[in-house]
Formats: sequence, structure tokens, C-alpha cells
Amino acid sequence: MSYETLLVETRGRVGLITLNRPQALNALNSTLMRELDAALKAFDADKGVGAIVITGSEKAFAAGADIKEMQALGFVDSYLGDFLGGWEHVAGARKPMIAAVSGFALGGGCELAMMCDFIIASETAKFGQPEITLGVIPGMGGSQRLTRAVGKAKAMDLILTGRMMDASEAERAGLVARIVAPDKLLEEALAAAEKIASFSLPAVMMAKEAVSRSLEVTLAEGLRFERRLFQALFATEDQKEGMAAFVAKRKAEFKHG
Ligand code: CAA
Repeated sequence: MSYETLLVETRGRVGLITLNRPQALNALNSTLMRELDAALKAFDADKGVGAIVITGSEKAFAAGADIKEMQALGFVDSYLGDFLGGWEHVAGARKPMIAAVSGFALGGGCELAMMCDFIIASETAKFGQPEITLGVIPGMGGSQRLTRAVGKAKAMDLILTGRMMDASEAERAGLVARIVAPDKLLEEALAAAEKIASFSLPAVMMAKEAVSRSLEVTLAEGLRFERRLFQALFATEDQKEGMAAFVAKRKAEFKHG
């Protein structure tokens, strides 16, 4: 399948998606949202893919929702068409997603990065939720996911002032997992994704599910959920292989099932 706004390829067991609207700093329009959802669904369905990397250009991961597209929108059309609602499908991908962020990750761009399971940032990355400067507020999860990631104080600071934070502030605040030199960004993100994809796919997917659930339920519910998933993994061949390989002091050969 070919895409208008994305470059999509597989590298070994890693699915790589590059946002590709350079003329608009990868602003997220509705075509891009539909295509990203389709690309992620295809990777989710592909047993040969164990992890996904989403990246942009050197200058911009994405500079937000497409302002030119939404400028003339009215409330009724926005409501009836559930404007931006489709992004929850993107966030619902079941395989691990890494955002490799260089340059601007603003508004919807920051929100897309936060939909991923973790962010690897170039030293040049800049994060922000500047919607307030446009007379609106974040609409793809910024007020919720940013607050969970960095806490209320910094989320309020960024969302109310619209200022940007650089990569090191984002790392200190807990938004970013690792910072790397600009020329190492894709290499590092692909290496992390390859590592994840080398493990048992059900274990990897359940690990993602368990951590994600921790943001939504009480500790007691989360612990019960984790334990059930842990117990379920003893039904997989990969658990037998992983533990047998440890005992035999050899490398595990996972079948991913
Ligand atoms: N939507 C549409 N087009 C955008 C865009 C966006 N979010 N961001 C940048 N562009 C376009 C610019 O209009 C410009 O196009 P033209 O050449 O046709 O004029 C092109 O990309 C290059 O941008 P700049 O010339 O502005 O580049 P710069 O280097 O001078 O500035 C920037 C870079 C600071 C990121 C600036 O482009 C900017 O402030 N962009 C908007 C950021 C923003 O407000 N994002 C939030 C959007 S709202 C949102 O995301 C809602 C939500 O929660 C879902």
C-alpha cells in the first residue's frame, strides 16, 4: 500500500513509519491520521513485526494538528464528525511504539509522541502544547497524557503559557526516556525496537498492556491484572524456551508465540 503523507517500511522485525509532509512541518491533517491508523493496523496484524518506530524529519517530528485544515471548522461539524476522535485508534495500537523525536513536537505532535509507549529524543527536540496561543486547548490528549507524564505543575506551565521545553527539560520531567545525538536518533530508536522485537511477542504485548493499565486503574486492580497476564504467559512456548535457555546458559530462540 502506498501513502500520501507517510513513508512506511519494515526493517527486520521493526515497522518504521516516517511522517512525510515536509512542506507543513508534518502537521497532522485528517489524511495523515487515516493513513497512520491504517499503517499501524497493518503492523499490528503482521506477525513478522514486533515493534514500531514513528519518526518525523530532522526539523520536525510534527508541528501539531493542521491549523489550515481546522481553521474554518465550526462546532456542529466538529462534534458530528468527532473531529480528532480517530486519534484514539492510533493510540490503541497493541504493539510497542517508540517515538523518535527530532525538532518540533508541538500540539498534536507532542500528543502523538505521547501516544507512543516511550520517546527517544534528539538533543534538538522541542516539546510544547501551544494551542492556547491559537485560542484553543490540546485536543488529542495533551491535557491528560502530559499531566500523567510530567505532573500537574509542569503540565499547567506548558499548557497555560504555550512555551516549549527542550529535550533535557523533557527528560528531567519524565516525558522523554532517552536523549541521543541528532545523527544517532534513528539508529538508537531502531536498535531499541529491534531489541524489543527479538523477545516473545505475547510477553512484549502483555508488558505494554500491563504498564498502560497502571494509568487507568487502582493499584489493587492493576496488580491483579498484572498477575493474571504473568500467569497466562506460562501457557506459551516462549516461556518454556526463555527459561530453558537461561538454565542451559544459551541464548533463547523465541518463536514469538
Ligand atoms: N499546521 C499547518 N501548517 C503548519 C503548522 C501547523 N500546525 N506548523 C507549521 N506549518 C506550516 C507553516 O504554515 C509553513 O507553511 P508555509 O511555508 O506554507 O507558510 C511551514 O509549515 C513552515 O512553518 P514556519 O514557516 O512557521 O516554520 P518556522 O521554522 O518559522 O516555525 C514553528 C516553526 C515554531 C513550529 C511554527 O511553524 C509554528 O508555530 N507552528 C504551529 C505550532 C502550533 O501552534 N501547533 C499546535 C497546533 S493546534 C493542535 O495541535 C491542536 C491539538 O491539540 C490537536
